[in-house]
Amino acid sequence: MVHPGWVCLLQSLLLLARARQSRGPAGACPLRGKSELNSFLWTIKRDPPSYFFGTIHVPYTRVWDFIPENSKKAFQQSHVVYFELDLTDPYTISALTSCQLLPQGENLQDVLPRDIYRRLKRHLEYVKLMMPSWMTPDQRGKGLYADYLFNAIAGNWERKRPVWVMLMVNSLTEVDIKSRGVPVLDLYLAQEAERLRKQTGAVEKVEEQCHPLNGLNFSQVIFALNQTLLQQESLRAGSFQIPYTTEDLIKHYNCGDLSSIIFNHDTSQVPNFINATLPAHERITAQEIDSYFRQELIYKRNERMGRRVKDLLEEYPNRSFFFAFGAGHFMGNNTVIDVLRREGYDVEHTPAGQAINKYAVLFPTALIRWARLHLSL
Ligand SMILES: *[C@@H]1O[C@H](CO)[C@@H](O)[C@H](O)[C@H]1NC(C)=O
Ligand SMILES: *[C@@H]1O[C@H](CO)[C@@H](O)[C@H](O)[C@H]1NC(C)=O
Ligand SMILES: *[C@@H]1O[C@H](CO)[C@@H](O)[C@H](O)[C@H]1NC(C)=O
Ligand SMILES: *[C@@H]1O[C@H](CO)[C@@H](O)[C@H](O)[C@H]1NC(C)=O
Ligand SMILES: *[C@@H]1O[C@H](CO)[C@@H](O)[C@H](O)[C@H]1NC(C)=O
Repeated sequence: MVHPGWVCLLQSLLLLARARQSRGPAGACPLRGKSELNSFLWTIKRDPPSYFFGTIHVPYTRVWDFIPENSKKAFQQSHVVYFELDLTDPYTISALTSCQLLPQGENLQDVLPRDIYRRLKRHLEYVKLMMPSWMTPDQRGKGLYADYLFNAIAGNWERKRPVWVMLMVNSLTEVDIKSRGVPVLDLYLAQEAERLRKQTGAVEKVEEQCHPLNGLNFSQVIFALNQTLLQQESLRAGSFQIPYTTEDLIKHYNCGDLSSIIFNHDTSQVPNFINATLPAHERITAQEIDSYFRQELIYKRNERMGRRVKDLLEEYPNRSFFFAFGAGHFMGNNTVIDVLRREGYDVEHTPAGQAINKYAVLFPTALIRWARLHLSL
């Protein structure tokens, strides 16, 4: 069992690219009443059934009430809960930390163009200065100190690879800082699984998430870091609103909007740099980064995650699994669900209100399949 503070730290390292500006209070879905809940639950039809559940990287308290009862019941009834990474394994943290570092002996100052390094340093000084005023009384009440938090997120920044510094800068904003201390949804599920003494596991290794990010080439990373700094600089100057904010993400999630465009950025942890006001050659770079991450951080991982899910289902035919992965792995093209369907599994989206019960779920479809086969329906 890892100390929750460490898990939060890990989460703060993993989590990124969330946007940061509060626009309006809500997060509630304006178009629906609570009777029409979203659903990020899919049933893998077998006996016992297993489930896919799409999570997001936001404080769980912002979305929990909008998650339907049948999703929660599927979680409770499953014997085994799998995540992308094993958030309760200390090795996960140390492997992630070392994967983010520059090769031994290298420093960011040696690697970055001078202008970028100077602006980065200045921005981090600004963040450090602002941090105490960004924290809420509630956070201070929980014993969270600005210095501690800054060091937990940004300490050692000069030894990090530029791509990780870029993601770190993205997560060092007022709104992000204010949400620290409440576990994000996937971490909360991991803690619940542990509390309920479920068997847990992970379908990926840290390196499999980390190496593709390190694989963006130098000019792409410098572009991304430059754009991130430009955004933060105009945010500081008060002249800028970031397009996909955390609030938007929460609203889309609570509304049950199954849009890959929105969720792929949260899932891959890479921000969206495509920006209509960019000059043409820069827009091309932004698009290249976007297709790189879609390929390397979504499609390739979906393929691998799907194969591991299949292996688990085959290895343990009498266990029911609950697979909680980033929602973006279930939307758009080449999803984890597509991999399972290709392997012959029947996977169905499970709306709120549909019973989670192996007979209720399994019997009718088995019957229908049998009838189709034998009665040529
Ligand atoms: C990075 O990748 C882009 C697109 O594949 C390519 O045009 C560019 O030349 C590469 N830059 C470096 C420094 O390798
Ligand atoms: C950063 O981006 C701006 C605006 O797109 C550009 O003018 C500048 O040359 C870039 N700086 C670096 C170091 O790439
Ligand atoms: C788009 O890019 C321009 C130039 O780099 C920048 O000034 C502006 O803030 C960016 N807008 C968004 C929404 O990222
Ligand atoms: C589940 O399957 C294993 C072998 O794969 C078997 O040893 C075990 O008894 C089974 N458990 C139940 C509850 O059927
Ligand atoms: C999915 O694939 C279709 C057909 O290849 C393509 O038109 C569409 O843009 C793709 N969607 C995404 C989100 O990449």
